[in-house]
Amino acid sequence: MHFKAIDEQMLIGQANEARAHSYTRYSDFAVGAALLCADGRVFAGVNIENGSYGATICAERSAFASAISAGAKDFVAIAVVGGKKGEPITAFCPPCGICRQFMSEFCTPDFPVLLWDGERIERKTLGALLPEAFAL
Ligand code: THU
Repeated sequence: MHFKAIDEQMLIGQANEARAHSYTRYSDFAVGAALLCADGRVFAGVNIENGSYGATICAERSAFASAISAGAKDFVAIAVVGGKKGEPITAFCPPCGICRQFMSEFCTPDFPVLLWDGERIERKTLGALLPEAFAL
């Protein structure tokens, strides 16, 4: 079987670039995600905030929503990058609990979640981030 390595730098770069499109009127915290699909497509997502705060959607879920809306079904990895809008990244931005649960609907526990603090890449798996996930 042909195994194609994940281009981590590319995925992180796309997540970081997507941050420019985030809508962060309330927190000023810009998150970008880049979701690599098995067919090679990459879907970006950003956080989109709302005056009714609970209606805010995170970058990760927004990337999955775009991918699934375009017919993608198999997911290889996601990169997540977040920090103050307009400023360079200085810390890791691990996915929130809702996003972990959301991803577990579509991905197995070995699904890689790549984080970046501006210097280093941290490689997590969804299973490590969300052990004993709830599933129907
Ligand atoms: N946010 C994300 O986009 N992804 C996460 O996993 C953590 C939080 C967003 C939501 C909100 O717009 C801002 O970051 C501050 O919480």
